[in-house]
Amino acid sequence: MTTTRTATDHSGDVRLSGITKTYGSFTAVHPLDLTVPEGSFFALLGASGCGKTTTLRMIAGLEEPTAGTVSLGGQDVSHLPPYKRPVNTVFQSYALFPHLDVFENVAFGLRRRGIRSVRKQVEEMLELVQLGEHARKKPHQLSGGQQQRVAVARALINHPRVLLLDEPLGALDLKLRRQMQLELKRIQTEVGITFIHVTHDQEEAMTMADTVAVMNAGRVEQLGPPAELYENPRTTFVANFLGTSNLLEAEVDAASGDDIVLRAGVSTLVLPRARCSAPATAGGKVLAGVRPEKISLVHADDSGEVPAGRNRITGRIAATSFTGVSTQYVVDSPVCPRFEVYAQNVDRDPRLVPGAEVVLHWNPAHTFGLDAAQDIDAGVGTAEEEALA
Ligand SMILES: Nc1ncnc2c1ncn2[C@@H]1O[C@H](COP(=O)(O)OP(=O)(O)O)[C@@H](O)[C@H]1O
Ligand SMILES: [Mg+2]
Repeated sequence: MTTTRTATDHSGDVRLSGITKTYGSFTAVHPLDLTVPEGSFFALLGASGCGKTTTLRMIAGLEEPTAGTVSLGGQDVSHLPPYKRPVNTVFQSYALFPHLDVFENVAFGLRRRGIRSVRKQVEEMLELVQLGEHARKKPHQLSGGQQQRVAVARALINHPRVLLLDEPLGALDLKLRRQMQLELKRIQTEVGITFIHVTHDQEEAMTMADTVAVMNAGRVEQLGPPAELYENPRTTFVANFLGTSNLLEAEVDAASGDDIVLRAGVSTLVLPRARCSAPATAGGKVLAGVRPEKISLVHADDSGEVPAGRNRITGRIAATSFTGVSTQYVVDSPVCPRFEVYAQNVDRDPRLVPGAEVVLHWNPAHTFGLDAAQDIDAGVGTAEEEALA
């Protein structure tokens, strides 16, 4: 009889249950429950020091959890040493053997297990990472991207159930990194095993992963498919760390029905209740958020052209920057000091220059609501600082 895998068969999942790591009085990873579905591309995303590497090392068995368990495919592996776990890790420093050529670097894991005829497997693996022609080169004769692919091939040849990647593209320049992102995604799709990828680069996480877990100070703040995290952030940290959000404090005017009516300065804004992650009661406060590309900008003289039913606020352009495909405007508004708007360069209005009075408007359905008790600036600038580091 053949057994068919169903959606409820999670035998290959990676499961972390209450996994915790403390160093003295410092908690690097707070009790964490996380399930990574078998065969998925999963990213742990967060700023430097938020606990990504520690989490990955606990999965690999390189770090002992202070509490909690790790299970792989339904088996508790918490007490297994790293080499007995069906897991391999690729690090940022590829750690290739400099005296061995590409072929022997990839063959290493097989030879160590006493397997004699390695040629077919190694050649297949080199084909997978498109290094067939470079088999006899030494690591120093390869580009950074090629070395990284050797490291991936060397890990995959052991047929791990899970491949862990710790900032594997961190040492590459931007263009090569973009190429390798697509390359790693292709390889993962082809081999179909679970990849858990650690990165501080939000664009990298969103490009590659099916599911992203955003970490902040040892905790997962939010987890989901990239588009869902981007469109429906539930915390200010996620809203600011993943792309850019305009957040403004607003008072709840009425909160019955499917829409919450907000008051911000002289503006009335509508927020779909389903997109508000905070409890909203009349008289209370929420943070209303909207992404810069969702907003349209018109000169104040044309304010009569704004269709009814749009959320709208007024302001004055403080700065513009032309980036080719779009123009980015910073608008000073009584309700938000630095409202960012990205406008595609289709027809540019020459009046939209610094100092101009403008009306910003957007579809209320694009508004999200967050708990006003949070720091409105959490996560702001973190991604940029990381990129420069
Ligand atoms: N062996 C250690 N002893 C003490 N603190 C540590 C140790 N390893 C990591 N940490 C601390 O734990 C936190 C998380 O580290 P890490 O998981 O490496 O972060 P990330 O990979 O997200 O940059 C950091 O504040 C780091 O300084
Ligand atoms: Mg790290």
